[in-house]
Formats: sequence, structure tokens, C-alpha cells
Amino acid sequence: MALAFSVALASDHSPLQDFCVGDKNSPGNKVLVNGMVCKDPKLVQANDFFFSGLHMAGNTSNAVGSKVTPVNVAQIAGLNTLGISLARIDFAPFGVNPPHTHPRASEILTVLEGSLHVGFVTSNPENRLISKLLHKGDVFVFPEGLVHFQKNIGYGNAVALAALSSQNPGVITIANAVFGSKPDISSDILAKAFQLDKNTIYQIQSKF
Ligand SMILES: *[C@@H]1O[C@H](CO)[C@@H](O)[C@H](O)[C@H]1NC(C)=O
Repeated sequence: MALAFSVALASDHSPLQDFCVGDKNSPGNKVLVNGMVCKDPKLVQANDFFFSGLHMAGNTSNAVGSKVTPVNVAQIAGLNTLGISLARIDFAPFGVNPPHTHPRASEILTVLEGSLHVGFVTSNPENRLISKLLHKGDVFVFPEGLVHFQKNIGYGNAVALAALSSQNPGVITIANAVFGSKPDISSDILAKAFQLDKNTIYQIQSKF
């Protein structure tokens, strides 16, 4: 019951007006509210609902071989209160978008180029992996909050477009959160949690 309640609270609320374009310059945004305060509707322009550049590939020259280009309320202020956003994901050959979760959004992903091995894991106690091989034009859903990943299984680049059910889905990358927190989670805790010796934990932490 408590869990169901907290999950319900984690999703975006429905808007109570046509739109509430986030006003980055408003002194009201110095006040911490849930979302952004609205720009005067009379001053709202088409560009408040606009982003350009998603035709451009992200730079995948990094340790995991993938790059996410987000288009959320930070890029389009008009998404404020609307409960949706988008991301382009580029993959180098055999690149991985590592296991992560969106605390506030379900995700629906379309493969635009290449082939991806994707999957998500259900919560305790089953921890069941639900995975599939996707090709160009295929669509797959990652339910809200669940740990999921994508891997390019081809020798060419792959591209996917993900739609998310939050203006600000958030990303928790598991390895970064667990082994790369600042300050570190104590190696005692991680050694027990992962059933590893402390030196192995230090080694993993050094990579994040
Ligand atoms: C891509 O990122 C790498 C590593 O940060 C950098 O060396 C390279 O110049 C970048 N390439 C482009 C085209 O920006």
C-alpha cells in the first residue's frame, strides 16, 4: 500500500490549464516548487514549444559507446506540466546504454537504425529479466522505475528515439549511483551487498 502510494506520487500530475511554459527568468523560480512557475501566457511564443537538432548524432566516443541526447523540460520549457519528453540515443557498434532507471517515467523506444538487444528487470522477489532483440522500426516499452538497458548488437551505428512519460524523467545509472557516489558508499557496505572482497570494490569504484 505504502509502495503503491509512493509510486503514484512519483508520476507527473495532469495540467490544470492549457499550458504552463516554464519561465527560467521568473524570480518565482528561485522559490522551489514542484516543476517551474508559468510564464505569462500572453508572452508565450512558438519557440517555447520547439527544439531543433535531434537529427544530429550524439558523440559515442566514451567508455560505454552510447550517448543520450535529452529533449525534456530543460530543453523545451513548454513541456512544463505536460508529463512527456523525448530522447535520442546513439550507439557505436556494440555500444551499451548501461543499466539505469527513470524514477518518474515509463519509456517507449523506437529503433530508427540498427539492431538492439534491450531488456528490463522486474522488482523483488522475482527479478525476472524480460528482454528482446529489436530491429529497425521495432518498438519496446520499459515500465516506470524498472532497471533497463540497450545494447547495439551490430557492426554499424544504431539510433533509437525514446518517449518518456515525464517532463523530467530523471536517470539513475546503477553503476554510477552505487560505485560512483560522492562521497563513496562505504566499501564494507558494498562488499556485503555484492558479496565481493573490498579490493574488488575499490577497483570498481576507481572506474566511476
Ligand atoms: C567526441 O568525444 C571525444 C571524447 O570526449 C572527443 O575527443 C572528440 O573530439 C569528440 N568528437 C566530436 C566530433 O565532438
